[in-house]
Amino acid sequence: MYTPQEEKKLIEESKKLLNISIKDIKDKQTAKELAHKLRDIINYHDWRYYVLANPVISDYEYDKLFKLLKDIEQKYPELITPDSPTQRVASGLTKEFPQVKHLSPMLSLENSYNEEDLKEFDKRVREITGIEIVEYSVEPKFDGAGIALVYENDLLVRGATRGDGIVGEDITPNIKTIKTIPLSANFSKYGIKTIEIRGEVLMRKDVFKKLNEKRLEEGLPPFANPRNAAAGSLRLQNPKEVAKRKLEAFVYQITYAVDFKDNNLLGTKIKTHYDSIKMLYELGFRTPLKEMKVCKGIQEVIEYCKEWEEKRDSYPYEIDGMVIKVNDLSLHEKLGFTSHHPRWAIAYKFKARQATTKIIDVVFQVGRTGAVTPVAKLEPVEIGGVIVSSVSLINEEFIKEKDIRIGDLVLIERAGDVIPYVVKVIKEARTGKERPIVFPKNCPSCGSPLVKPPDEAVYRCININCPAQVVERIAYFASKDAMDIRGLGKSIVKRFYELGFLRKIPDIYRLPYDKIKHLEGWGEKSVENLKKSIEESKNRPIYRLITGLSIRYVGKVTAKKLSEYINCVEELKNWSTEDLEKIPDVGYVVAKSIYDFFHNEENLKTIYELKELGVKTCKQHKETKLSVFEGKTFVFTGTLKCCSREKAQELIESLGGHTTNSVSKKTDYLVVGENPGSKLEKAKKLGINILDENQFLNLIKPYVKELENLGNYEDKKIDLPLFRN
Ligand code: IVH
Repeated sequence: MYTPQEEKKLIEESKKLLNISIKDIKDKQTAKELAHKLRDIINYHDWRYYVLANPVISDYEYDKLFKLLKDIEQKYPELITPDSPTQRVASGLTKEFPQVKHLSPMLSLENSYNEEDLKEFDKRVREITGIEIVEYSVEPKFDGAGIALVYENDLLVRGATRGDGIVGEDITPNIKTIKTIPLSANFSKYGIKTIEIRGEVLMRKDVFKKLNEKRLEEGLPPFANPRNAAAGSLRLQNPKEVAKRKLEAFVYQITYAVDFKDNNLLGTKIKTHYDSIKMLYELGFRTPLKEMKVCKGIQEVIEYCKEWEEKRDSYPYEIDGMVIKVNDLSLHEKLGFTSHHPRWAIAYKFKARQATTKIIDVVFQVGRTGAVTPVAKLEPVEIGGVIVSSVSLINEEFIKEKDIRIGDLVLIERAGDVIPYVVKVIKEARTGKERPIVFPKNCPSCGSPLVKPPDEAVYRCININCPAQVVERIAYFASKDAMDIRGLGKSIVKRFYELGFLRKIPDIYRLPYDKIKHLEGWGEKSVENLKKSIEESKNRPIYRLITGLSIRYVGKVTAKKLSEYINCVEELKNWSTEDLEKIPDVGYVVAKSIYDFFHNEENLKTIYELKELGVKTCKQHKETKLSVFEGKTFVFTGTLKCCSREKAQELIESLGGHTTNSVSKKTDYLVVGENPGSKLEKAKKLGINILDENQFLNLIKPYVKELENLGNYEDKKIDLPLFRN
């Protein structure tokens, strides 16, 4: 934590240093002083950006300061300190993670599932302590990977996984890449020489979603949930790769402190759990301080837990419950521990998003790239309000690893907006009648032999004319992520394919409407609607067309990046793999795939055919951004009635504005939909313009034809165009 004066000074100094380059530094003494100053400044900006999510300088300015520090350290390597922000990402690979004994055992928590359990816990606490109304601090139970951090003489010396609770794995190089974990902290101010802190490494839900989208594009198996993604990322051998995963960490418990009076937190100003978390917060850690509530008595605890259970979906991180801790630290000693958990804390687990059900059958689906995925058909079961009747079994390895068989009782989890997955097989319920899952040798759609490339985990059908693949590719072209043709879903594509109306992508633009209107389930009106949405799709931004082409490894994210570098899709035929590799995040494999795609006659023919049929393959004036909202930053919170958040964001961007996901001083407008999140409070505090949905629509009205004659928009679904027309 910084005082306002300190912040002012750091910001002023940042500005001054922006004009300095390595050439201006003539002697080592100046370099030393400057490096020291830069470290303080960069640590401050990291804290603003990563802990507070509220930066005060631009990324460009930050990069400049960081580069100056790097340049100084390169010129005078003897000036490098172990806690320099440049030392976060080590080069080279970590061959293995050494085993380390935790300073204090990493115990678990006792679980509770309802009010009665919590009342029972409170009763026990009251009996042991003799206190009538106990004060509890209540905080989220983060669903990530548990870690233990050790600081010695103010320096982070170790970060370890939980392991078996006694011995964990030393993953320090990976832990250091997490920017919410300070590399040094002023514990000596509190008289602490050695301290062990526990926390959780997490991946934000939106980061997780993007990571999985990218993995799927790359033909890699997706992570089942943010917890697995965080845990898996922490064990990568290359810290550079870990740094790319955008991990974050919350710390929530001091478990060991030497030289603190009596070897614990007592006898100092820190008398409560809340104070200990506040101390960590003030030392620069990310803590659940804001999420935490000190409650008097168990009834208040119960209410707070329920409040969080309601809003867990809108919280950016996965949480699976709340943790209730006796607030007064002197009572912790009185209550003590069992061999499994502390008696001064309990977890209140939210209603499970898990259920057990039976696998009735396994079918094999052929995707648009020919990958064959096993899908288990389940006895339908409700999980968190949604009926789940099938679940992907990912690939053969997954099936082998979990030993999944047809007829098995399995535990299914569906976390937040994550797709359901099989956690485990309940082997105890086996009857002996379960059948092994046999992978087909031939494509279930076209019968051609399946192949398994040696470096891949999936079987593929390599017949590009395979009907299942063709249907998937056409349906993907029309999907929401690509050309967004409403009314042309997979089942309709399949029907039109079987009828011979749709054999390849360009056929979409020459559908025989006069025949379709006579089909069962179709009529004048529905044909009119389909025709309209197909017509509209001709003017989509080009990244949507690129996405729709099903180029391997190129999904929406990469397509968007690519489109920034070109004017027309067909230009890509002139790009070499070297040119392509210069685009951020495009590596050799992706570049080669794009290159191959645009050097295939059939593919080029498809693009030219689409062009002839009226599909825009070049950026239009709408895509060369308008400047109405030039320099203005919009943030959205809550659900809009008119349209999806994505559409609203795209529209703002097409009008020259900028959209981000978090509120900061730089935000110009916060657009508030239903059930807004914490962004609203923050925007109010910062005095940012707040627009309700109606005001937002009024603001963009002059530029959007669809809004012209609508009068009062309240509660109306509006078909916003992706770009002004
Ligand atoms: S306190 C000595 N607080 O939940 C007690 N644990 O199921 C230390 N967890 O192993 C634990 N959020 O990894 C605590 N706010 C929180 C937590 C939390 C998540 C994890 C932790 C623990 C597991 C128990």
